Amino acid sequence: MTLLEERPRESFREQSIPVLETKRLTLRAPRLEDAKTVALLANDKRIAENTARIPHPYTLADANDFIAGANIAGGEVVFLITLQDDIIGACGITTLDKQPELGYWLGAPYWGKGFATEALHAVVDYAFTDLDHRALNAGARVTNPASRRVLEKCGFQWTGVGLYRISAIKSSAPIDRFRLERGIWSAIKSWGRMKKVM
Ligand SMILES: CC(C)(COP(=O)(O)OP(=O)(O)OC[C@H]1O[C@@H](n2cnc3c(N)ncnc32)[C@H](O)[C@@H]1OP(=O)(O)O)[C@@H](O)C(=O)NCCC(=O)NCCS
Repeated sequence: MTLLEERPRESFREQSIPVLETKRLTLRAPRLEDAKTVALLANDKRIAENTARIPHPYTLADANDFIAGANIAGGEVVFLITLQDDIIGACGITTLDKQPELGYWLGAPYWGKGFATEALHAVVDYAFTDLDHRALNAGARVTNPASRRVLEKCGFQWTGVGLYRISAIKSSAPIDRFRLERGIWSAIKSWGRMKKVM
Protein backbone atom coordinates (compact mmCIF):
# COMPACT_ATOMS: atom_id res chain seq x y z
CA MET A 1 0.00 0.00 0.00
CA THR A 2 1.37 3.42 -0.93
CA LEU A 3 1.19 6.44 1.32
CA LEU A 4 -1.40 7.93 -1.01
CA GLU A 5 -3.71 4.94 -0.58
CA GLU A 6 -3.56 5.25 3.20
CA ARG A 7 -5.21 8.67 3.18
CA PRO A 8 -8.90 8.56 4.09
CA ARG A 9 -11.26 9.02 1.10
CA GLU A 10 -12.92 11.89 2.94
CA SER A 11 -9.82 14.08 2.77
CA PHE A 12 -9.64 13.65 -1.01
CA ARG A 13 -13.25 14.79 -1.33
CA GLU A 14 -12.69 17.70 1.03
CA GLN A 15 -9.77 18.89 -1.07
CA SER A 16 -11.96 19.12 -4.17
CA ILE A 17 -14.35 21.51 -2.41
CA PRO A 18 -13.06 25.03 -1.74
CA VAL A 19 -13.53 26.95 1.48
CA LEU A 20 -15.71 30.02 0.81
CA GLU A 21 -15.36 33.00 3.12
CA THR A 22 -17.97 35.72 3.56
CA LYS A 23 -18.04 38.68 5.95
CA ARG A 24 -19.30 36.56 8.86
CA LEU A 25 -19.35 32.97 7.62
CA THR A 26 -17.11 30.18 6.40
CA LEU A 27 -18.50 27.55 4.04
CA ARG A 28 -16.61 24.26 3.91
CA ALA A 29 -17.08 20.61 3.00
CA PRO A 30 -18.76 18.48 5.70
CA ARG A 31 -16.60 16.05 7.70
CA LEU A 32 -17.61 12.86 9.50
CA GLU A 33 -17.05 14.47 12.91
CA ASP A 34 -19.74 17.09 12.07
CA ALA A 35 -22.53 14.50 12.10
CA LYS A 36 -23.70 15.05 15.70
CA THR A 37 -24.14 18.82 15.27
CA VAL A 38 -25.78 18.43 11.87
CA ALA A 39 -28.24 15.93 13.36
CA LEU A 40 -29.08 18.25 16.26
CA LEU A 41 -29.75 21.22 13.97
CA ALA A 42 -31.55 19.39 11.15
CA ASN A 43 -33.88 17.44 13.44
CA ASP A 44 -36.54 20.11 13.06
CA LYS A 45 -39.90 19.57 11.37
CA ARG A 46 -39.83 23.10 9.92
CA ILE A 47 -36.62 22.27 8.08
CA ALA A 48 -37.81 18.85 6.90
CA GLU A 49 -41.15 20.16 5.63
CA ASN A 50 -39.48 22.88 3.59
CA THR A 51 -36.79 20.78 1.93
CA ALA A 52 -37.15 17.93 -0.53
CA ARG A 53 -34.97 15.23 0.98
CA ILE A 54 -34.49 15.87 4.73
CA PRO A 55 -36.47 13.28 6.74
CA HIS A 56 -38.14 13.87 10.09
CA PRO A 57 -37.13 12.83 12.69
CA TYR A 58 -33.54 13.33 11.52
CA THR A 59 -31.18 10.98 13.30
CA LEU A 60 -27.43 10.71 13.74
CA ALA A 61 -27.52 7.92 11.14
CA ASP A 62 -29.20 10.33 8.68
CA ALA A 63 -26.46 12.89 9.31
CA ASN A 64 -23.77 10.24 8.81
CA ASP A 65 -25.38 9.18 5.51
CA PHE A 66 -25.64 12.81 4.39
CA ILE A 67 -21.97 13.44 5.11
CA ALA A 68 -20.75 10.14 3.67
CA GLY A 69 -22.67 10.84 0.45
CA ALA A 70 -21.76 14.52 0.17
CA ASN A 71 -19.59 15.73 -2.71
CA ILE A 72 -19.43 12.32 -4.37
CA ALA A 73 -21.94 12.67 -7.21
CA GLY A 74 -20.59 14.55 -10.23
CA GLY A 75 -21.93 18.08 -10.42
CA GLU A 76 -22.95 18.16 -6.76
CA VAL A 77 -21.34 20.42 -4.16
CA VAL A 78 -22.25 20.44 -0.48
CA PHE A 79 -21.06 22.99 2.08
CA LEU A 80 -21.62 23.31 5.78
CA ILE A 81 -22.19 26.90 6.83
CA THR A 82 -20.12 27.82 9.89
CA LEU A 83 -20.07 30.89 12.11
CA GLN A 84 -16.87 31.23 14.15
CA ASP A 85 -16.33 27.46 13.75
CA ASP A 86 -19.89 26.60 14.87
CA ILE A 87 -21.96 24.75 12.27
CA ILE A 88 -25.18 26.66 11.62
CA GLY A 89 -26.58 25.00 8.48
CA ALA A 90 -25.85 23.60 5.06
CA CYS A 91 -26.18 24.59 1.43
CA GLY A 92 -25.08 23.43 -1.96
CA ILE A 93 -25.84 22.67 -5.55
CA THR A 94 -27.36 19.45 -6.74
CA THR A 95 -28.75 18.36 -10.10
CA LEU A 96 -32.48 18.33 -10.82
CA ASP A 97 -33.80 17.60 -14.30
CA LYS A 98 -30.18 17.86 -15.51
CA GLN A 99 -30.00 21.48 -14.27
CA PRO A 100 -28.03 22.84 -11.27
CA GLU A 101 -30.39 23.35 -8.33
CA LEU A 102 -29.60 25.37 -5.19
CA GLY A 103 -30.54 23.93 -1.78
CA TYR A 104 -30.11 25.29 1.75
CA TRP A 105 -31.24 25.15 5.35
CA LEU A 106 -30.21 26.82 8.58
CA GLY A 107 -30.70 25.70 12.18
CA ALA A 108 -33.61 27.61 13.72
CA PRO A 109 -31.50 29.54 16.30
CA TYR A 110 -29.77 31.23 13.36
CA TRP A 111 -32.82 32.33 11.37
CA GLY A 112 -33.59 35.98 10.72
CA LYS A 113 -30.01 37.27 10.84
CA GLY A 114 -29.25 37.39 7.11
CA PHE A 115 -27.04 34.28 7.26
CA ALA A 116 -28.82 32.32 4.50
CA THR A 117 -28.61 35.27 2.12
CA GLU A 118 -24.94 35.80 2.94
CA ALA A 119 -24.08 32.11 2.44
CA LEU A 120 -26.04 31.82 -0.80
CA HIS A 121 -24.38 34.88 -2.30
CA ALA A 122 -21.05 33.04 -1.87
CA VAL A 123 -22.36 29.78 -3.37
CA VAL A 124 -23.92 31.62 -6.31
CA ASP A 125 -20.65 33.47 -7.01
CA TYR A 126 -18.79 30.14 -6.85
CA ALA A 127 -21.30 28.50 -9.20
CA PHE A 128 -20.94 31.18 -11.87
CA THR A 129 -17.16 31.55 -11.61
CA ASP A 130 -15.40 28.32 -10.64
CA LEU A 131 -18.17 25.93 -11.74
CA ASP A 132 -18.97 27.95 -14.85
CA HIS A 133 -22.73 27.33 -14.65
CA ARG A 134 -24.89 29.27 -17.12
CA ALA A 135 -27.92 29.39 -14.81
CA LEU A 136 -29.07 28.19 -11.38
CA ASN A 137 -32.54 27.00 -10.41
CA ALA A 138 -34.14 26.91 -6.98
CA GLY A 139 -37.52 26.25 -5.45
CA ALA A 140 -39.35 27.31 -2.31
CA ARG A 141 -42.65 26.02 -0.99
CA VAL A 142 -45.39 28.56 -1.58
CA THR A 143 -45.86 28.55 2.20
CA ASN A 144 -42.20 29.54 2.77
CA PRO A 145 -41.91 33.33 2.32
CA ALA A 146 -38.52 33.52 4.07
CA SER A 147 -36.95 31.20 1.51
CA ARG A 148 -38.54 33.05 -1.39
CA ARG A 149 -37.20 36.30 -0.01
CA VAL A 150 -33.68 34.85 0.30
CA LEU A 151 -33.78 33.85 -3.37
CA GLU A 152 -35.04 37.27 -4.41
CA LYS A 153 -32.28 38.96 -2.41
CA CYS A 154 -29.77 36.81 -4.33
CA GLY A 155 -31.20 38.00 -7.66
CA PHE A 156 -33.34 34.95 -8.53
CA GLN A 157 -36.44 35.57 -10.61
CA TRP A 158 -39.75 33.77 -10.26
CA THR A 159 -40.45 31.49 -13.22
CA GLY A 160 -43.64 29.69 -12.21
CA VAL A 161 -45.08 27.07 -9.91
CA GLY A 162 -44.34 23.35 -9.82
CA LEU A 163 -44.81 20.33 -7.59
CA TYR A 164 -41.99 18.86 -5.48
CA ARG A 165 -41.93 15.57 -3.66
CA ILE A 166 -41.26 16.39 0.01
CA SER A 167 -39.85 13.32 1.73
CA ALA A 168 -40.88 14.40 5.27
CA ILE A 169 -44.57 14.79 4.41
CA LYS A 170 -44.58 11.76 2.08
CA SER A 171 -46.38 13.84 -0.49
CA SER A 172 -45.90 16.51 -3.12
CA ALA A 173 -46.41 20.21 -2.45
CA PRO A 174 -46.67 23.35 -4.61
CA ILE A 175 -43.37 25.08 -5.11
CA ASP A 176 -42.46 28.50 -6.46
CA ARG A 177 -39.71 28.00 -9.03
CA PHE A 178 -36.89 30.52 -9.37
CA ARG A 179 -33.98 30.94 -11.78
CA LEU A 180 -30.88 33.10 -11.91
CA GLU A 181 -29.16 33.47 -15.29
CA ARG A 182 -25.45 34.18 -15.37
CA GLY A 183 -26.08 37.46 -17.28
CA ILE A 184 -28.40 38.77 -14.56
CA TRP A 185 -25.93 37.75 -11.85
CA SER A 186 -23.13 39.49 -13.73
CA ALA A 187 -25.20 42.69 -14.12
CA ILE A 188 -26.05 42.68 -10.39
CA LYS A 189 -22.35 42.27 -9.51
CA SER A 190 -21.35 45.15 -11.84
CA TRP A 191 -24.07 47.36 -10.38
CA GLY A 192 -22.84 46.54 -6.86
CA ARG A 193 -19.28 47.50 -7.81
CA MET A 194 -20.49 50.74 -9.44
CA LYS A 195 -22.50 51.71 -6.34
CA LYS A 196 -19.35 51.30 -4.21
CA VAL A 197 -17.34 53.81 -6.26
CA MET A 198 -20.20 56.32 -6.73
C1 LIG B 1 -35.42 29.82 4.70
C2 LIG B 1 -34.20 30.00 5.59
C3 LIG B 1 -32.98 29.36 4.91
C4 LIG B 1 -33.95 31.50 5.75
O1 LIG B 1 -32.75 31.70 6.49
P1 LIG B 1 -32.43 33.12 7.16
O2 LIG B 1 -30.98 33.13 7.51
O3 LIG B 1 -33.39 33.41 8.23
O4 LIG B 1 -32.68 34.10 5.93
P2 LIG B 1 -32.21 35.62 5.84
O5 LIG B 1 -32.17 36.20 7.23
O6 LIG B 1 -30.99 35.71 5.01
O7 LIG B 1 -33.40 36.28 5.02
C5 LIG B 1 -34.76 36.02 5.36
C6 LIG B 1 -35.65 37.04 4.71
O8 LIG B 1 -36.97 36.57 4.74
C7 LIG B 1 -37.79 37.50 5.41
N1 LIG B 1 -38.85 36.76 6.11
C8 LIG B 1 -38.71 35.92 7.14
N2 LIG B 1 -39.92 35.44 7.49
C9 LIG B 1 -40.82 35.99 6.63
C10 LIG B 1 -42.23 35.90 6.49
N3 LIG B 1 -42.95 35.11 7.28
N4 LIG B 1 -42.82 36.61 5.51
C11 LIG B 1 -42.11 37.39 4.68
N5 LIG B 1 -40.74 37.53 4.77
C12 LIG B 1 -40.13 36.83 5.74
C13 LIG B 1 -36.86 38.23 6.34
O9 LIG B 1 -37.40 39.46 6.76
C14 LIG B 1 -35.64 38.37 5.44
O10 LIG B 1 -35.83 39.36 4.45
P3 LIG B 1 -35.25 40.87 4.64
O11 LIG B 1 -33.76 40.75 4.82
O12 LIG B 1 -35.64 41.58 3.38
O13 LIG B 1 -35.90 41.45 5.87
C15 LIG B 1 -34.40 29.37 6.99
O14 LIG B 1 -35.56 29.91 7.55
C16 LIG B 1 -34.54 27.86 6.93
O15 LIG B 1 -33.54 27.15 6.95
N6 LIG B 1 -35.80 27.36 6.88
C17 LIG B 1 -36.07 25.92 6.85
C18 LIG B 1 -35.49 25.22 5.63
C19 LIG B 1 -35.82 25.93 4.35
O16 LIG B 1 -36.88 26.54 4.20
N7 LIG B 1 -34.89 25.84 3.40
C20 LIG B 1 -35.08 26.43 2.09
C21 LIG B 1 -35.56 25.37 1.17
S1 LIG B 1 -36.26 26.06 -0.28
